[in-house]
Amino acid sequence: MLSLILLLLPFLGIEYGSCDLLRDSVHVTSAAARPNNELWCYKCLAEVPEDKCADLRQNNSTLIHKCHNDRRMCMVKRFSYTTSTENSTTALKMWALERNCTKHCEPGCIVIGERTKLYACTSCCTTSLCNFGSGAEKLLKSFTALTMALGLTLL
Ligand SMILES: *[C@@H]1O[C@H](CO)[C@@H](O)[C@H](O)[C@H]1NC(C)=O
Ligand SMILES: *[C@@H]1O[C@H](CO)[C@@H](O)[C@H](O)[C@H]1NC(C)=O
Ligand SMILES: *[C@@H]1O[C@H](CO)[C@@H](O)[C@H](O)[C@H]1NC(C)=O
Ligand SMILES: *[C@@H]1O[C@H](CO)[C@@H](O)[C@H](O)[C@H]1NC(C)=O
Repeated sequence: MLSLILLLLPFLGIEYGSCDLLRDSVHVTSAAARPNNELWCYKCLAEVPEDKCADLRQNNSTLIHKCHNDRRMCMVKRFSYTTSTENSTTALKMWALERNCTKHCEPGCIVIGERTKLYACTSCCTTSLCNFGSGAEKLLKSFTALTMALGLTLL
């Protein structure tokens, strides 16, 4: 039973520790005498990997937006997929990526599907223009956790 839970955790992308930490620190900052929202985030939607939004290495100020009200976090959400035959799995392909200001942010990945697996991976951060990443870092972390969980169940 324990091994089943260990196996499922990374799939669900649930990282209770980091989530709570992030929420607590956000809570403290917003509650402490700082009524004004001073946060700026990249805000855009990419539907191909070549889009300016997906690759922010050129500093494109047209994608920078002021966050308002309770939207005190920046996020990157990356949607991607793999397809498998009985013998092989394709490389991860991106099909959309969103950057935005947000009020609620759950870091981690949600994975659904069998032959075609869909991944929705979110990362969250709280300093201005921090959401420049590819959104793939979380995914790599989840794969590592999955590999470890698989290893444990085989013991
Ligand atoms: C950013 O979030 C706002 C509010 O949820 C939404 O209306 C908007 O479409 C989002 N922008 C992008 C580029 O996804
Ligand atoms: C990107 O452009 C903005 C606005 O022009 C500037 O404030 C910021 O320092 C630039 N960042 C980098 C990494 O060049
Ligand atoms: C910045 O992004 C906008 C919107 O995607 C695009 O039209 C423009 O060409 C980009 N500018 C540079 C210098 O990359
Ligand atoms: C998968 O591998 C087996 C054994 O090597 C082979 O017989 C089969 O044709 C392969 N299937 C595909 C879809 O490539």
